[in-house]
Amino acid sequence: MSRHLTGPRDEGASPWRLCVAPMMDWTDRHCRYFHRQLAPHARLYTEMIAAGAVLHGDPVRHLAHDPAERPLAVQFGGSDPAALARCAELAEAWGYDEVDLNCGCPSPRVREGAFGVVLMREPARVAACVRAMRAATSLPVTVKCRIGVDEDDDFAFLARFVERVAGAGCRVFLVHARKAWLRGLSPKENREIPPLRPERVYRLKETFPELTVVYNGGITSPEEARAHLAHLDGVMVGRTAYREPWRLVAFERALFDPDFRPRRRTVVAAMAAYAARVAAEGVPLYAVARHMLGLANGLPGARRFRRLLSEGARGREVPPRVLLEAWAAVRDPEEAVPFTTSS
Ligand SMILES: Cc1cc2nc3c(=O)[nH]c(=O)nc-3n(C[C@H](O)[C@H](O)[C@H](O)COP(=O)(O)O)c2cc1C
Repeated sequence: MSRHLTGPRDEGASPWRLCVAPMMDWTDRHCRYFHRQLAPHARLYTEMIAAGAVLHGDPVRHLAHDPAERPLAVQFGGSDPAALARCAELAEAWGYDEVDLNCGCPSPRVREGAFGVVLMREPARVAACVRAMRAATSLPVTVKCRIGVDEDDDFAFLARFVERVAGAGCRVFLVHARKAWLRGLSPKENREIPPLRPERVYRLKETFPELTVVYNGGITSPEEARAHLAHLDGVMVGRTAYREPWRLVAFERALFDPDFRPRRRTVVAAMAAYAARVAAEGVPLYAVARHMLGLANGLPGARRFRRLLSEGARGREVPPRVLLEAWAAVRDPEEAVPFTTSS
């Protein structure tokens, strides 16, 4: 029954009910810690990590995270079953909750490596990757894909891909509801120009009701999320979560806990404490602060907050209290102390 949840705090809620999308250069560990303050029940995703970078680079840099980030999925990019299997094993050892394979990225660099969205044309290879990853871990192995690529954009193409990959044991598909157009569009344009086709994703769920299908693409409000949840198991929010982080609170309230009422100032204080902790590992304040620039959006003082952070939080050895000092520029009506006659 997880498809037709409408109420909050539903015990049967799918673990994928609300996801924050993997976003390169954006959803790093500091960003995820911040998002966790705003949406305690959301499932968070890492940026895409190329399998080669984990296996031949620095696994600590790529895989380290804070336990508070969980439930947390790691997304890998690659097309070699043995390498991805080794990555899946590492993901489990590092305490992740899910291993996701990127079959949606259209960037030229990723295409050169023959992974990302071009894999949608190679369902047998993706099936082999999923099989190898599943053999290496007990974590759920999931696939994030698009609805098509170039002229391969009809429902039959998508259904063939999903059927083959599901046959290898993938039970969860996170679907960005637009195709990728590889000739002539930049990755950014490929997130904007091809039209969204939610009905394709709904049809996928109707065709494969036993699979968990999560909708991704263009969601800006909890109302839109609810509309998709009437058809599907979950929603994944990307750019809105990053640019308007406070909206995550509205998603959390609408989809899980109507009583969740954090204060922005408390979130800033939590982030200052976190920044102090990671400073001991050599993390500069701006690596944390840069994800918080949108926190005051919509409030008086938001621009000044952004400026104080972008100018004042840069540089070496900046103390974390700069976050709270910047917040002092913001007038948050929820912080207003009511006047009482006894005071
Ligand atoms: C800056 C940026 C980086 C992204 N990096 C990834 C990535 O590493 N892996 C991935 O699967 N999708 C990536 N995406 C795509 C998002 O996960 C998501 O599918 C897309 O933005 C559509 O969702 P939205 O309309 O809610 O933003 C990225 C998107 C953005 C904006």
